[in-house]
Amino acid sequence: MFDALRRPVCDLLGCSLPIVVAGMGGVSRHDLVQAVSAAGGFAFLGMIREPVDLIQSEVKTLRERGVDRFGVNLVPAATDPVLLEQQISACLDLEVPAIELFWDVPEALIGRLRRAGTIVVCQVGDGTEARAAERAGAHILIAQGVEAGGHVKGRQRLQDLLPELVAKNRLPVLAAGGLIDGADLASVLSLGAQGGVFGTAFVATEEAFAHPYHKRRLIESNATATVLTDMFHINWPRGAMVRVLANSVTNGERGDAFMGARIVIGYEGERPIYLFSTDSPLASMTGDFEAMALYAGEGVGRVSRIVSAAELVKNIAAHAVALLSVDNMVPAAIVESASPVCFSAHVDDSYMGFLSRSELLKALNELLEAERSHARVTLASASEAPDHLRGLILLIHQDEVRWCGVLTNAILGRGGAASNKIDTVFNQAMSKPDLAQRLEFLNHNRACLIERIKALLPSVRDDDLHMRLSMMRDSHERNGKLVTAARADL
Ligand SMILES: Cc1cc2nc3c(=O)[nH]c(=O)nc-3n(C[C@H](O)[C@H](O)[C@H](O)COP(=O)(O)O)c2cc1C
Repeated sequence: MFDALRRPVCDLLGCSLPIVVAGMGGVSRHDLVQAVSAAGGFAFLGMIREPVDLIQSEVKTLRERGVDRFGVNLVPAATDPVLLEQQISACLDLEVPAIELFWDVPEALIGRLRRAGTIVVCQVGDGTEARAAERAGAHILIAQGVEAGGHVKGRQRLQDLLPELVAKNRLPVLAAGGLIDGADLASVLSLGAQGGVFGTAFVATEEAFAHPYHKRRLIESNATATVLTDMFHINWPRGAMVRVLANSVTNGERGDAFMGARIVIGYEGERPIYLFSTDSPLASMTGDFEAMALYAGEGVGRVSRIVSAAELVKNIAAHAVALLSVDNMVPAAIVESASPVCFSAHVDDSYMGFLSRSELLKALNELLEAERSHARVTLASASEAPDHLRGLILLIHQDEVRWCGVLTNAILGRGGAASNKIDTVFNQAMSKPDLAQRLEFLNHNRACLIERIKALLPSVRDDDLHMRLSMMRDSHERNGKLVTAARADL
């Protein structure tokens, strides 16, 4: 049903949907991981600084419940080295399928995990870290944008970092930071990610181990509620930044975070929770939750209710599929005419005057690179546009996201590899001095793209692809006209 979302990284992780739930310390425990996995996604247990017996019991519970594909998140920089070694040994003994590492790129550890047969996932915040992770032998990168909730390593926005990592690394890249719904997933897939990593959105699920106070604060908060601060620092390297909901601590009402004796503001069993520590309120805690680290990403304003994790995965997938495919736009009569018989593998396409498979893949990848550039420009331009134009630009962006999805699926469905490149249009468009000139430049390029599709169509033999490319041509013609009309208002 959601085949249009499947990407090669799904085979690596062993899931059917490219929806990954972040390894959130304290929050991602077996109930959440199981629910996400049962719904087709993939999730990491958040095991930062957790004792070995908890890792063992979480993994045992998952396996007893039939979950065999899952990951464990560990953060070496924020863990005592003796405990870290015990955690790693336990994960290796348990043959945990995937381990996600964050904050730094420990090359020797990555090599050790890889040699043991573990899938190694590194969450990174910039290109230098990504290159180091690839060199060290990681299998998958997570590009974490500065919009992310929790600890934030880099300072680039996801829309800038993601295409850079996709273009410059050979590893599959997942996107993290501010993702809440299917439109976000569709958008990052169109920018070349193989999947989306969701944190904040899944804190507000029934299965998350976050305290109800944290969940409630998320659904009550608006888009501007978060701040990036280093005030929650106990247990982490000095200067580490976290994105949280603004509260009495970030407003300076609880005193200097770096001076004075430790103040206990809560308990988890016997364990004291200190003011300015990185602990967020968990279901197992009591205390002054308002003053704890209420982790939240920039997408928090769009988290509106607490749902089950299965419902959330299903909603994200359904929404993304609707945005990435044309099936909901296709009249039944046309679908019927796209008989699989027409696409027989026995006939030599090039002999018949149609493109061979490799020629077709090349042409589709060129269109994908161009479309992805346009999608990236419209996304970047929407925030600069005056109010009356922003809606139109976002609508066009959404349309371009759809065609990226259609092209990617056409390529993957023919056994090809989707290009990770972005053509030069992005840099050229972004160097235009103002929005009017940028839109004019895009329209010129859109016209060239339309001509390329028209030239390609007569040599495409598959009826279904022919119909999809014709729809792509038509919608680009429509978008071109809309932009021409709107530019008069600039
Ligand atoms: C409550 C919470 C706890 C987190 N804990 C961790 C953690 O222990 N280890 C880690 O690598 N990332 C952690 N993160 C960051 C996530 O890995 C991810 O980058 C982030 O959630 C993505 O942004 P989003 O929250 O806007 O979806 C946490 C995020 C949240 C919201």
